[in-house]
Amino acid sequence: MTAQRTSIHGQWSSRMAFMLAAAGSAIGLGNIWKFPYITGQNGGGAFVLTYLVCIALVGIPVMMAEIMLGRRGRQSPINTLRTLAAEEGGSRRWQYLGWGGVLAGFIILSYYSVIAGWALAYVFRAASGMFVAASPEQINAIFAALVADPERLLAWHTLFMAMTVIVVARGVRSGLERAVKFMMPALLIILLVLVGYAMNSGKFMDGYHYLFDADFSRLTGKGILIALGHAFFTLSLGMGAIMVYGSYLPQQVSIGRATVAIAVLDTVVALLAGLAIFPLVFASGLSPAEGPGLVFKTLPIAFGHMPGGTLFGTLFFILLVFAAWTSSISLAEPAVAWLVENHHMTRVKAVTWSGIAAWLLGIASVLSFNRWSGFAPLAVVPGFETKTVFDLLDFLASNILLPLGGLLIALFAGWVMSRASSAEELALGNLGYRIWRFVLRYVAPLAILLVFLNLLGVIDPLRRIVGL
Ligand code: PHE
Repeated sequence: MTAQRTSIHGQWSSRMAFMLAAAGSAIGLGNIWKFPYITGQNGGGAFVLTYLVCIALVGIPVMMAEIMLGRRGRQSPINTLRTLAAEEGGSRRWQYLGWGGVLAGFIILSYYSVIAGWALAYVFRAASGMFVAASPEQINAIFAALVADPERLLAWHTLFMAMTVIVVARGVRSGLERAVKFMMPALLIILLVLVGYAMNSGKFMDGYHYLFDADFSRLTGKGILIALGHAFFTLSLGMGAIMVYGSYLPQQVSIGRATVAIAVLDTVVALLAGLAIFPLVFASGLSPAEGPGLVFKTLPIAFGHMPGGTLFGTLFFILLVFAAWTSSISLAEPAVAWLVENHHMTRVKAVTWSGIAAWLLGIASVLSFNRWSGFAPLAVVPGFETKTVFDLLDFLASNILLPLGGLLIALFAGWVMSRASSAEELALGNLGYRIWRFVLRYVAPLAILLVFLNLLGVIDPLRRIVGL
């Protein structure tokens, strides 16, 4: 057995603490805000099925790999990858994978904070009774008025970023660990109540069929890439967030079981959100392809019409803010851990600078919903004609950087790291280990590569050549 390292940043107090933190990172805006809206933009069932396959075949094995690498390296992803590469006889260049993750985390944090700002704003809108008996048109107008005002969005974005900075500054174990414990069950309960409301909306089965009937003619190559990218996004993979959380994990915890539990929980939350939202979309004559405003235009209709809706609505948006908060802190952590390790900064200083940088970039996303809403920098590229700066930042981070990061993590853990090291660190049963290693070495990398090649238009000509 190799000498065990310890992390200079501390350790989770227990297995439970790690589970809460990792589930807190995974469950966030990705499940409740992003999953429904990209499902609506990509045609429903076939997209959902592709996403579920990606979670099972790529997400789960890569998540195990990330946690394992983190725990073995016990440092920020950049230094973990450098150390492990040296130990396993790999190239120093593997540390650049850590850098890619820091970049992805920084980009995601920049717009994540803007959207979390919407959720903050909605806490107050719900509490003030604004949604009571409101028509879908009025709800729509409330959303439109919010995003049309850059100053307001900037203020909420600033507040949310400050909240993130404060928690990260306090270190890995304080504060939010306790919040997650009540937040997760409460969020599940409210989602169940909303699904119950959707069941009585008259259009529940329409929503259900939309989510679960797979019509593959509606799925494009880009849709497949978005499903893959979302599997990474929603599980916080491919950028080092889960790796850095793994670096604080006590040695005796079983990585396999923790991973499966987190992935299942995360998927359940996303599907419940879909089941709550799509029936309302159809019942109120909205389009599933409404875009990033989808949750904010649908759920308030339910809150406005159900008994106790003002209270429930307020609680729901508070929980959404918490869910986003426990995710945003993990977006910043890889960069902060690296700054502390290599530049001997205090956590406070490291996270303040990281937060300021992400806040500045976030202004581009703030403007994408108003002043720059007609500005599509890549309009000449087919498929990107109407993509705003916000859309492009999300596309770059979620659909390019995260899958690429995941591919390289799979290659590193599957091919560079020795069998002896990964088997020791994962401590799975023999069969479980062999399945994991096979999927990580072959299935996951091939799946990611195929999705990229398909997008680049390489697959169809190939298929014709081999006569498929
Ligand atoms: N998983 C988070 C969510 O679903 C977002 C996230 C992505 C967090 C990447 C950390 C790293 O909202």
